[in-house]
Amino acid sequence: NTKYRPFPAFPVAERSWPSKTITQAPIWMSTDLRDGNQALFEPMNAERKLRMFETLVQIGVKEIEVAFPSASQTDFDFVRKLIEEDRIPQDVTIEVLTQAREHLIRRTVESLIGARRAIVHVYNATARPWREQVFGMSLVEVKQLAVEAVSLIKTLTEAHPETEWILQYSPETFSQTEPEFALEVCNAVIATWNPTPSKKLIINLPATVEAATPNVYADQVEFMHRKLDRRDCVVLSVHPHNDRGTAVAAAELGVLAGADRVEGCLFGNGERTGNVDLVTLALNLYTQGVDPGLDFSDINAVARTVEDCTQLPIHPRHPYVGDLVFTAFSGSHQDAIKKGLAARRDGDSWDVPYLPIDPADVGRSYESVIRVNSQSGKGGIAYLLEAHYGLVMPRRLQVEFSGVVQKHTDATGAEVSADELWRLFGQEYLDAQQPIRLH
Ligand code: KIV
Ligand code: ZN
Repeated sequence: NTKYRPFPAFPVAERSWPSKTITQAPIWMSTDLRDGNQALFEPMNAERKLRMFETLVQIGVKEIEVAFPSASQTDFDFVRKLIEEDRIPQDVTIEVLTQAREHLIRRTVESLIGARRAIVHVYNATARPWREQVFGMSLVEVKQLAVEAVSLIKTLTEAHPETEWILQYSPETFSQTEPEFALEVCNAVIATWNPTPSKKLIINLPATVEAATPNVYADQVEFMHRKLDRRDCVVLSVHPHNDRGTAVAAAELGVLAGADRVEGCLFGNGERTGNVDLVTLALNLYTQGVDPGLDFSDINAVARTVEDCTQLPIHPRHPYVGDLVFTAFSGSHQDAIKKGLAARRDGDSWDVPYLPIDPADVGRSYESVIRVNSQSGKGGIAYLLEAHYGLVMPRRLQVEFSGVVQKHTDATGAEVSADELWRLFGQEYLDAQQPIRLH
């Protein structure tokens, strides 16, 4: 459903290394309306939640965690609204989160009655600090909690066969859990739910707190991928948080290690340092010639909606979307970009220097690429005047005029717009030449 043209920046076939690359997009699950929402100063109201939901649908996300219905009335009502107002497209599955506690599970299943298809996402923490300090539970009790929760969900959902029910189980704090114990709990859950290859169960592996380098997480994911019982009946999912700033790498390595699915948020919203950023992941795939299956061809519109719904600004250097990420101020970069753009022919794959992606592919313009300040050279100035005013400057003129601009920017310390350049060209440069031209 993506509008992008094929974009083999570095065609995989031309590489002799590495031995393994991601060749297919994972299943994407957005938790913007749950993990993202629970991390906001002010959680989204129904109107904002709906706008975010519709944006996610438009982008092409097919699995959306919409709420934590037992945690708040707003969330419960939002799930009811989606179902009762028939706002969920046929090919989209909603998901809701619950703790592994009886009354919360009952309330959660109640919120979903009448849905066409729904994922019930149940979790309990499995790592030692949580077992011992938070819950005071033994290994056996922690496993039992998961099994009893799944068993109750099975009974409650079987009473509503009009809905296609999917179970998701998360051993919360997975990445800090002894791998053998996480495996034991997940295998017990699989045995209890009894999935089939056509009715799969989702096992989700959270790095609830990112506590190690991403290769360690990937090793943990690979361990589960290789050892889980009935792997053909399981969708293996990763849920990286970004405490060490490496969630994107953790997700990518997790997929290379065998995960089928990635949970995250747009622009990396989420608890503390955020969930993994789905936009960066998707566009990283795109730059490798892999169709992400998500449409960011108007990334500014998506960013505006997300900023409005979350009330959080996106950093100007955020990959692919920040205001400055397709901008070059330095003279040598501007010169290289200008030459690269001029050399392009229709149908060429993207290989313009210093730009990892064609800004137009995400709805950004070339004009914003080149901006002029005191570090810019003649190339950028010439580019802006040609792009905005059709003025083609011969090389000597570029050199002379760039001196005028340099003086101006040294004095002001500020960026110069194309309009300001045009004014400078007329008033400061041409006027100064007049006595010479009169001779
Ligand atoms: O980070 C986490 O562990 C979670 C779980 C509830 C899946 O968000
Ligand atoms: Zn999380």
